[in-house]
Amino acid sequence: MRHLLSPLDLSIDELDNLLDLATDIEHNPDKYSEACKGKKLATLFYEPSTRTRLSFESAMLNLGGNVLGFSSADSSSAAKGESVSDTIRIISCYADICAMRHPKEGAPLVAASKSSIPVINAGDGGHQHPTQTLTDLMTIRSLKGRLSNLTIGLCGDLKFGRTVHSLINALVRYEGIKFVLISPNELRLPDYIRVDVLEKNNIEYIEAEHLEDALENLDILYMTRVQKERFFNEEEYIRLKDSYILNAEKMALAPKDMLVLHPLPRVNEISVEVDNDERAVYFKQVQYGVYVRMALILTLLNITIE
Ligand code: NCD
Repeated sequence: MRHLLSPLDLSIDELDNLLDLATDIEHNPDKYSEACKGKKLATLFYEPSTRTRLSFESAMLNLGGNVLGFSSADSSSAAKGESVSDTIRIISCYADICAMRHPKEGAPLVAASKSSIPVINAGDGGHQHPTQTLTDLMTIRSLKGRLSNLTIGLCGDLKFGRTVHSLINALVRYEGIKFVLISPNELRLPDYIRVDVLEKNNIEYIEAEHLEDALENLDILYMTRVQKERFFNEEEYIRLKDSYILNAEKMALAPKDMLVLHPLPRVNEISVEVDNDERAVYFKQVQYGVYVRMALILTLLNITIE
C-alpha cells in the first residue's frame, strides 16, 4: 500500500507517469468517469480549506466514486479528544483512501503508520503540501512544456509556506533548476530546506528582498500568501503581510513569457489587475489540481484504465 506524504514519495519516473495520466484525463475525461465506481474517498480536514478539499471531492466524483468526511476539527471527534491514530483506524473501515490536512507537522505520517488505506497529506502545518506540488508541476509542465532548465522565483512567506517547501523538494530533482528566493528577512526559507535540500543538491539560488530586482530573469514567479495562522505575534503579521504586492507596473518589468503561479487563496499579494494578464495562470492552476488529484487517486488505488 502506498501513501503520499511528501513529493519525494514518488520517484521521477512515477511523477512523470502521474503527470502523463493527469494530462490524458484532461483530454479524455469520459474515459475515466466510472474508474472509481464503488470506491470512497474520505477527506479529513482539521484546518480550513476551499480548494484542496473540494478539488479532492471533485476529483473523486469525476471518477464516479463517492466522498465522505469532515471539514474542521470542531465537527469531528478530535473535539472530544480522539487521537489521529484512532480516527484513522475508524476511517479505514469506512473508506478506500483518504486525504488529511492537519495543523501539526507530521500528523499524516502518524496516520499512515496506523492506516490500512492510502493516506494523502493534504497539508501538514508549515511542513509539506505534496498535492499542491503535483498541481504546480502539472501547471508548469503543461504551460511551459518542461520541468527542467527553469529559473523560479519564490516570493512571500518562504518560512511558513508549505507549498514552497514541497515545490522545492520536488524541483531540485530536475536538471538546470535555479531559484530566486524573495522574502523579507523574517520570512526567509528555513535551513531544513535551504541548507538540507538546496545546498546539499548543489542547486543555484540567490536570496533577494525586492521583487522588482528579481523579476527580469524569471521563467516562473510563484507568489504566496503570508501565512497568518502560523504567526505567534499578530503585530509581526501586520507588519509583514503586505511586503509584496504584484501589480501591472511590476509585471511590466517581467519577461513576456514568465508565468505567475499562486497556490491560492490570495490576499493582497497579487493585485486583481494582474488577473487579466495572460501570464497570470493561477486560476488555470486550480483546474490542473483536479486532474492531478484524479491521477493520484487512481495511482494509489492501483486502478488502470485501458
Ligand atoms: C495553500 C495551503 O493550504 O498551504 N492553499 C492551498 O492548499 N491551495 C496555500 C495557502 O494557504 O496560502
